Amino acid sequence: MQPKLLSSTKKNTFHRLLIFLLPYKKTFIIGLLLTFISSILNPIRPYWIQSIIDNEIAAGNTSALRISILGVAMLVILQAVLMYFQIVTTHTLGQNILNDMRNTVFEHILHLKVQYFDKTPIGILQTRTISDIQTLNNIFSEGLVTIGGEFLQLITILILMFITSWQLTLLVLAIIPLLVIAIYVFKKNVNEAFNRVRKYVAELNSYLQEHITGLTITQLFNKEKREAQNFDRINQLHQKAHIDTIYYYSIFFPVVEFMAALALAIVVWHGTQEVLQENITFGVLVAFLMYIQMFFRPIRMLADQFNALQLGIVSAERIFKVLDTQDFILDPQQPQNNPNLFHKPVSITFENVTFGYNPLHPVLKNISFHVCAGTTTAIVGATGSGKTTIFNLIKRFYEIEQGKILIDNLPVQSYTQAELHKAIGVVMQDVFLFSGSIYDNITLFNPHFSLSQVQKAAEIIGIHSFIMQLPQGYYFRVGERGATLSAGQRQLIAFVRILLYNPKIILLDEATANIDSQTEVLIQNALTQVLSHRTCIIIAHRLSTIQRADQIIVMRKGEIVESGKHDELLQKNGYYKKLFMYQYASFSPTY
Ligand SMILES: Nc1ncnc2c1ncn2[C@@H]1O[C@H](COP(=O)(O)OP(=O)(O)OP(=O)(O)O)[C@@H](O)[C@H]1O
Ligand SMILES: [Mg+2]
Repeated sequence: MQPKLLSSTKKNTFHRLLIFLLPYKKTFIIGLLLTFISSILNPIRPYWIQSIIDNEIAAGNTSALRISILGVAMLVILQAVLMYFQIVTTHTLGQNILNDMRNTVFEHILHLKVQYFDKTPIGILQTRTISDIQTLNNIFSEGLVTIGGEFLQLITILILMFITSWQLTLLVLAIIPLLVIAIYVFKKNVNEAFNRVRKYVAELNSYLQEHITGLTITQLFNKEKREAQNFDRINQLHQKAHIDTIYYYSIFFPVVEFMAALALAIVVWHGTQEVLQENITFGVLVAFLMYIQMFFRPIRMLADQFNALQLGIVSAERIFKVLDTQDFILDPQQPQNNPNLFHKPVSITFENVTFGYNPLHPVLKNISFHVCAGTTTAIVGATGSGKTTIFNLIKRFYEIEQGKILIDNLPVQSYTQAELHKAIGVVMQDVFLFSGSIYDNITLFNPHFSLSQVQKAAEIIGIHSFIMQLPQGYYFRVGERGATLSAGQRQLIAFVRILLYNPKIILLDEATANIDSQTEVLIQNALTQVLSHRTCIIIAHRLSTIQRADQIIVMRKGEIVESGKHDELLQKNGYYKKLFMYQYASFSPTY
C-alpha cells in the first residue's frame, strides 16, 4: 500500500467518482454544512462548561448558572437535531449516487459484446454491480463529509485547547508521534486484509453463480461433496481475511484508547499540580479532560474513514474498469436504412468467410453460400462443426476477420445493431425464458402487444390450448430460465414470439432434446406457419425439417463439404449420406 494517501491513478478515480456527485451537489453542500456546524458546536461545550465552573459556580452565581445550564442543554438538543438532519441528508445522498452508479454499470454491461462474457465470469460482474458499489456507500454517505467534519472539529478543538492552556495542549500533543505510527501500521494492514475480503467475495459470487447454474450436473455426477469442499475453501479464505480485519481493529482501537488514557493521566497529573499552584483554574482542568475525550475521537474516525475512502477507491477502480471496457460492436457512421429488411423476405449471402473465436484457430474456413429470399436452408453437420457460429456471425455477435456476410446484398456491418436484431428472429436450441409470465415472455415485456394478439398467434402455432390448461393460463409464471416448461414447449413459445414480432429472417437451432410425438406434431405445424414468406436458416436435427428445406448445407470441421437437396445429396453417396445414416436413419424415432 502506498504511504501517500492517494496515488495519481487513484486521484483520477476519485475525480471520476465526484462526477457522480455532481447531480446532487446541493444535497452534498447541505450535508457538508450541517456536519461543519456540528463539528464546530461540539468543542464549544467544554469551553462553556469551563466558564460555568470558573465564573458561575466559583462565584456562587446561581441565577446565571441556571441560564448557562439551560444554554448548554439547548446546545445539546440543537446538536442532536443537526445530527439527525445530517445523517438523513448524507445517507440519502449516498443511496441516490449508488442507485445511479448501479444503473450506469448495468446499462454498460447490457451493451457489451457477447465476446466479453465469454471471458468474464458472471459472478465477477455481479460483484461489481452489487457489492463493490455498496462499498462506495461509505465514501458518499460518510467518508467525504465525515472527513471534512472531523478535520474541522480537530482544528477547532486544538484552537480552543491552545486558547485555554497552551502548556497543557503541548503535553497532549507529545502523544501524537506515537499515534501517527499506530495509524500508519493499522491502515497498511487493514487495507490489505480488506482487499483480500473483496477478492474472496467476488470469488464466492462467481463460484456460487456457476455452480448453481450447473447444479443438475453436480447432482447427477454425485459431485456435491467436492463442490462443497471447494466452496468451503474459498469461504474459509474469505473468513480468514475478515477475521484479520477484525483483528487489526481490535488492536487499533484499544491502542488509541490507551493513548487517550495516557494523555488524560498526564493532564490530570500535571493539571492538578497547576490547579494547586493556582496557575490554571479548576474549570480549565475539567474542560481539558473533556477536550482530550473529544480530541481522540476524530483521530480514530479519521483513520477509519481514510480507510473506507481507500477501499472505496479500490472498488471504484474495479467498477471503472468495467465501465472503461469498450468492447462494443460499433454501429456504422451512416447506417443503411433498408426498409426491405422488415417488409419482405431478403437474401443472405456468405462470401469466403473465415472466423475464429480465437483468431489463431479458425472455426469457420472460407465459407460461401447463398440463401435466396423467402427460402429455407438447413445446415447439418457433426457437433462442433461451426453451425451455431454461422448464426452468431449473422446476428453480428462477433466480428468476422475475412470475407463478407450480406443481407439483402448489403454487408451486416452497414446495418445498425438495433435494425439487425429487429429483422432477425432467433429460436435457440435451448430457449431462455425470463422469470415472468408466459405472456411477458412472448411479448418480451412489450406492452404494445395485447393479450388477444398473443392468443391469436398462440392459436396459429397450436399452443393456445396447452397454455390455457396451465394455472392462470397466459399469466402462468415460468420460473427462472423457464424451468417449469420443457425444451419443446419453450421452443413453441419462441415461435409464438416470432409470429408476433414478425421478423423476415428466421434463424432456428432445432432442439436436440427428445420431444414427445404430440409436441413434435405441434412443432412441425409451427414450422410450416413460421417458415412461410420468410428467409430461414435452420440448424436441423429432424429429418422432416431437412426434407422440407430448399437447400441443405453440409458442414464438417468448419468447412462446407456438400450442398444441395436431400435426395441429390443422398445420391452423391458422400459425407451427407454417411452423416444421415449415422445420425438420422439409425436411431431417431421421428425418422
Ligand atoms: N464462445 C466461444 N468461444 C470460443 N470458442 C467457441 C465458442 N463457441 C464455440 N466455440 C468453438 O467453435 C467451434 C464451433 O462451435 P459451434 O458452436 O459453432 O458448433 P456447432 O456446429 O453449433 O455444434 P453443436 O452441434 O454441438 O451445437 C467449436 O470447436 C467450439 O469449441
Ligand atoms: Mg450449436
